[in-house]
Amino acid sequence: MLLKPPRGTRDFYPEDLRLREWLFGRFRGVSLRFGFEEVDAPVVETAELCERKAGEEIAGQVFSILPPGQREGRERLVLRPEFTPSLARMIYARRGQLRLPLRWFALPQCWRYERPGRGRRREHYQWNMDIWGEPDVTAEAELLAAIFAALDDFGLPPGAVRMRINHRGLLDEMLRERFLRERPEAFKPLCIVIDKLEKIGREAVEEQLCDPAGPLGEARLSQPDAQEVTAMLELRGIEEVARSLGKRAENSAAIAELRRLWELLDSTGLAGRVEFDGSVVRGLAYYTGVVFEASDAAGRFRAICGGGRYDGMLSELDPGAGKAGAKGLPAVGFGFGDAVIVELLRAENLLPSAARRLDAVVYPMGETERPAAMRLAAALRAQGRAVELLLGTPKARRAFADADRAGAARVYLIGPDELARKAVRVKELASGAEHEEPLPG
Ligand code: HAM
Repeated sequence: MLLKPPRGTRDFYPEDLRLREWLFGRFRGVSLRFGFEEVDAPVVETAELCERKAGEEIAGQVFSILPPGQREGRERLVLRPEFTPSLARMIYARRGQLRLPLRWFALPQCWRYERPGRGRRREHYQWNMDIWGEPDVTAEAELLAAIFAALDDFGLPPGAVRMRINHRGLLDEMLRERFLRERPEAFKPLCIVIDKLEKIGREAVEEQLCDPAGPLGEARLSQPDAQEVTAMLELRGIEEVARSLGKRAENSAAIAELRRLWELLDSTGLAGRVEFDGSVVRGLAYYTGVVFEASDAAGRFRAICGGGRYDGMLSELDPGAGKAGAKGLPAVGFGFGDAVIVELLRAENLLPSAARRLDAVVYPMGETERPAAMRLAAALRAQGRAVELLLGTPKARRAFADADRAGAARVYLIGPDELARKAVRVKELASGAEHEEPLPG
């Protein structure tokens, strides 16, 4: 057991790290092309900031750390299960000084105590892109365009991924005049329960919505109300939703935003790649508006990425929140894990080979030739080439076999004869072709 990484976590051997860097390179490339700046924060966060409301799946998955000598209390830390609270903290600390709308991206490692499975681990890297300070759905359109740019960069055909979109405001609007009027606090736990629909099924969701000992507690719904909620989740088109809202659709901010989002997406040809799905609500309580989730079209894996609008987060962090003057900041973003996309790309044969790039091995046949070999290696490295200098002086057969195994393109050999001629023999390993070059200096 001691020789394995902790369950659900990975070691990164060189070939794994090459693949990770390739993936991060794609994520970074898209983010920079969209005009985003990169940020990071400590992997360890204060418990208070990161611990989520009871009911959210993530709440029971947080790795907790007690600093030495501490038994409980304020000093408790956690391994971040997601990046969004840290981001909010960073923005809060510089509120009033930032150029808005702000566009930041990050590639944090996140930790969740989950049951490990396909595409699910206890640590994962999560590409995040977030826009703060923009209330309009132009921000959502920009983020969705970035996700599609990444999927296209990976070489996935347009139909390989389903992007499902919903708006939490729709549920809110539908229920506000009804039971939410007396118990607005029921809305967040309601979304959390609904998020489990695919996993536990409609009946179990209705049961949880009505259970006084369930996530809604005293704010639980009656059976007919619960059934109405789950019926709503089956709506699959904005116009279908509008029809079910009847006259209320005219005044629905959520419908107006969704229609506008579709128009914006249409202008870059992306509207055909997204679908409205009333059952997508996402499992985090903080979302307030448009929410979206992408998964592989064949439904083989868990979500590839997910995000949405969370306009309330800053005002919740603000100690003065709720009092006059406390101001929030609109925000929207997504998280895109490294696990599922790699599984999907592997299944589609779209992963690059993780071969090592090594330009040359410099091989001194004996210690007499070593100073010249060291000068040659230094000269090649100064040109930016990746060069391994053989540290021993093995026999030629072994040296060449070893260079081949290292993935080197060529071997620079310096033996007594070459040294006498102030030359180096260069052998291209792929073709076997050889030529001589003068030694530098
Ligand atoms: P999330 O849906 O919890 O959202 O996670 C986002 C993505 O991270 C998932 O779609 C999945 O790709 C990946 N992911 C999550 N948990 C795991 C796991 N255990 N193993 C592998 N991959 C995983 C958030 O975390 C939000 N903070 C995203 C966000 C940013 N919303 C606004 N801004």
